[in-house]
Amino acid sequence: MSLSRHRWPGELGRRGFGFGADYNPEQWPAAVWREDVRLMREAGVNIVSVGVFAWAQLQPGPDTWDFADLDEVMDLLHGAGIAVDLATATASPPPWLTSAHPEILPVDEQGRTVWPGGRQHWRPTSPVFRAHALALVEALATRYARHPALAAWHVSNELGCHNVHDYSDDAARAFRVWLRRRYGDLDTLNRAWCTAFWAQRFGDWAQILPPRLAATCPNPTQRLDFARFSSDALKEHLRAEREVLRRITPDVPVTTNFMVMGETSGMNYAGWAGEVDFVANDHYARPGPRRLDELSFSANLTGNLAGGRPWFLMEHATSAVNWQPVNRAKRPGELARDALTHVAHGADAVCFFQWRQSTGGAERYHSAMVPHAGPDSAVFAGVVELGRTLEGLAEVVGARRRPAPVAILFDWESWWLAEQEFSPTSLLRYRREALDWYGALLDLGMRADVLPVAAPLDGYRLVVAPVLHMVPGPLAARLRAYVAGGGHLVTTYFSGIVDEHAHVHPGGYPGALRELLGIRIEEFDPLPDDEQVTVTLADGPALIDTGLTGAELTGTLWTDRIELADAGVEVLARFTSGEQAGRPAVTRLAHGPGSAGYVSPRLGTAGLAVLLGPLLSSAGVTGELPPEACGRVELVVRGHSGHDYRFLVNRTDGPVELAAPGELLLGRATGSEGGVRLDPRGVAVLRHPVGARLRSGDHPRSRLAAPGLD
Ligand code: GAL
Repeated sequence: MSLSRHRWPGELGRRGFGFGADYNPEQWPAAVWREDVRLMREAGVNIVSVGVFAWAQLQPGPDTWDFADLDEVMDLLHGAGIAVDLATATASPPPWLTSAHPEILPVDEQGRTVWPGGRQHWRPTSPVFRAHALALVEALATRYARHPALAAWHVSNELGCHNVHDYSDDAARAFRVWLRRRYGDLDTLNRAWCTAFWAQRFGDWAQILPPRLAATCPNPTQRLDFARFSSDALKEHLRAEREVLRRITPDVPVTTNFMVMGETSGMNYAGWAGEVDFVANDHYARPGPRRLDELSFSANLTGNLAGGRPWFLMEHATSAVNWQPVNRAKRPGELARDALTHVAHGADAVCFFQWRQSTGGAERYHSAMVPHAGPDSAVFAGVVELGRTLEGLAEVVGARRRPAPVAILFDWESWWLAEQEFSPTSLLRYRREALDWYGALLDLGMRADVLPVAAPLDGYRLVVAPVLHMVPGPLAARLRAYVAGGGHLVTTYFSGIVDEHAHVHPGGYPGALRELLGIRIEEFDPLPDDEQVTVTLADGPALIDTGLTGAELTGTLWTDRIELADAGVEVLARFTSGEQAGRPAVTRLAHGPGSAGYVSPRLGTAGLAVLLGPLLSSAGVTGELPPEACGRVELVVRGHSGHDYRFLVNRTDGPVELAAPGELLLGRATGSEGGVRLDPRGVAVLRHPVGARLRSGDHPRSRLAAPGLD
């Protein structure tokens, strides 16, 4: 996960935050470019990504190249002091290429060709596509190697956005190579894939296929390996382009824009961060009451993929997107709050899709920095204001994320597996569960780090592992060591169940975590959509003095028949309705000063906010926000050179006042000493000497006493 090297684009770091957009001048006549540059300067834009979808312009035919427009644009931008994150332009192949070589087109699991007409219609494993793509990369790198505007390389675009799973013959061939590397021989593969089941034993590598449309549920380990392979195949493409770029321009940093957002699950980014010189991410907010939590969660995970170092927000939207069923405009304040939430979580560059809103093409109703209405618009005014705000925060640039006291583990492979068909329930949504925990912590005013599962756990008082379905031996050992070292682990239903081959750990659930948790489950008992159970908090030592004993929570989705295998297990809550009534629902086993806990049903954000109070207190985690701000304000901390920067993000649509000492870099003071007033959807940033406390720590109170902002 760690970055092999971290290099930031050109002069940017010394100039302040990167601020800009995808810039697609090929959509506009040259006269508009001049106005673009003038407006960019007005807005404080200092970097743009150019050429993302320009392949057809740059190479109009197999042997013809046309760099005239790009030359002019590069010069123009440089003349205005705007740096270029130059795309390798390989994201979308031109019609001449797909006509001459239809064999580069992806194939879906039903054997249907994905035709040109949209974008990203290429097979990650096609040698023909690769050769053409690398020729383009070589031509671009050679031409612009010494151009003074060139600050970074932007490989392709959102690798895997539309083509992560390709089931073509090229994919089949590459999959076999990948499998040989992983397993060495067929016997090992047959064992790993459990091919004794349903007469699937392979006698020759050539018999192995991607999991194409099958009569019924395909082999689960084949699907898991195909998901791993598909992510790796894209990573391979990234490496191939990067190697050309590093050979020709060794000093220019290379990145590609990740998609840590929403339900995008195909790319296991935990293994990608080390492949780029700086991490870049795109994020588009999902509508709904938990919109801001999801944004924060994605930014948080991106920051931790980057190992706490600054990262680059390559794309987000100034206002509406165009690809949801109903595309709402952002409300006043959201443009800046969204951007600054990413900054709070470590973004040192804030860029949008795109600079000027298209008038034609599939994305003409997607917002931009310069909307259809032109610069005389609220959106452009908001953009200009954000540019000024970022200038005022320049000293934050370079500051790293300060670790939170709580961690939430995130694992792409558990995500893939837990949502496979032929499972105990088809209703489980892996990311939603992780988000529930994150949202509950935000509602309590607590900071948490969303960590890729392989990240070190040292220093975290409480580690939550929601639906950590796949727990191979080494991970189980790490979790045991964490608890033995005094850490507090909490996991949930459907965790610890399988090993790295998706084989169930025998002897009772939760398999690899059974002994650590001190419980044993013989059978899962998931709930249908229209059923819920009551879970009542018990009166054991952990809950005494909390006032929570007897509190009732609602459980959905899952129940288990839990037996206490270790006499030391404390039952924190019992099912008090449904088939498991009277049996444990939430347990905890102390291991010296540490503990390991288990939560059987889905409690949702509101229920978890109740349960988390005592879990946090017994882990010794204290609150950092004053009570009046808990739930209303998100606190995030970055720091460097003797300073901590505390970001206070107003999660509500009304004003919030709180006591928050420190020097205000952004935001307004109230009349009273150390008081800060956050405008509706507003953000404040305070500077403190490193380690200064925002308040003298209090144990977080459960949300029962002060119910929801939900
Ligand atoms: C991204 C993509 C951009 C644009 C944007 C619209 O997925 O990289 O090119 O399509 O979405 O939201």
